[in-house]
Amino acid sequence: MLKGRNLIDPMDFTLEEVEEILNLAENISKKREDYAHLCDGKILATLFYEPSTRTRLSFESAMLRLGGKVLGFSEPNSSSVSKGETLADTVRVVSCYSDIIAMRHPKEGAPIVAADYASVPIINAGDGGHQHPTQTLADLLTIRSIKGKLSNLTIGFCGDLKFGRTVHSLIKALSRYENNKFILISPKELQIPQYIKSEILEKNNIEFTQVENLEQVINKLDILYMTRIQKERFNNEEDYLRLKDSYILDKGKMDRASKDMIVLHPLPRVNEIDYEVDKDERACYFKQAQYGMYARMALISKLLGVI
Ligand code: CP
Repeated sequence: MLKGRNLIDPMDFTLEEVEEILNLAENISKKREDYAHLCDGKILATLFYEPSTRTRLSFESAMLRLGGKVLGFSEPNSSSVSKGETLADTVRVVSCYSDIIAMRHPKEGAPIVAADYASVPIINAGDGGHQHPTQTLADLLTIRSIKGKLSNLTIGFCGDLKFGRTVHSLIKALSRYENNKFILISPKELQIPQYIKSEILEKNNIEFTQVENLEQVINKLDILYMTRIQKERFNNEEDYLRLKDSYILDKGKMDRASKDMIVLHPLPRVNEIDYEVDKDERACYFKQAQYGMYARMALISKLLGVI
C-alpha cells in the first residue's frame, strides 16, 4: 500500500512497489487521456531550495496532466525562508495548503526532517549530493522500456560519482535486481562514496570495478550513464576546473561501443556529451526526461491513493 507514504530513499519501496509504479507509469505513457482526471481537486506543492528544470517542471507537468493543481517556490529567497523560517515550520504550513509535497534541498537528509513535520507525503526531489529517488524511477522506467529488463545488465557510471546523487540512487535500486554488474568510471577524487561501496555493493556481493578510462571499458557496457561534474558541490573552483573535462563522450568513443548500448544522462549536460552524439539512436537522455514525467505521474497517483 503506497497511499500516504513518503519517498525519501530509493530503498523506501519494495521491489514489488517499484514494479507497481513502473507498470502504472507505462500504462499512463501509452494512454495519457485515461488518467487526465485522476487527481482532480488535489494540490501538489513543489518546494525547491535548489535550482531545477526537469524535476520541478516534470512534477508540475505530471500533476497538471493528472487534473490536479500546483503551488510552490522555485528558489527559497522568494519565500519566508529568506526571513529565517525553518524547514520544519515551512512544511507544517505547506501541509495545510497541499495534499503532497515534492522538495529539493541542498542539505543531505533535509527531506527526512521535512517528513517528520509534514502531515502529507513528502517526496525527495534531490537532497545535496545524497539521493534522488524520483530520478531513479525515471531511470528504471527508461531502462525497462528500452532494454526490456532491469537485470543481467552491465552498467557503466561515468563522471562525478562522488557528488552525483542520481548515481547513488540508481546503484542502490539496480543492486536489487539479479546479476547486474557495475563499472564505475571516474577520476580518483570523484569516486563513489565509501558507504555505497561497503553497504550496497560489497555487502550484497555485487560485481563492480573502478576505473579511470572510459575508452577501455565502453565496449563492455549495456548502459552508459553519463553525469556532469557537480560544480556546485566543490569546495574550491581550482579542483572543479582541473576535473571538469575529465570525460567527454563523442562519436569516436561511441564507435567503440556495442550497437545495443544505450546512453543515459539525468541532465543537465554541460559538455560531457558532445552534441553530435544526440543524433545517435543510442542516445536516450531526452526520452529519459520524458519518462521522468510519467514516473512522477504514477508516483503522485499512488502516494495520493487515487488509483
Ligand atoms: N535530472 C535532474 O534532476 O535535473 P534538474 O536538476 O534540472 O531537476
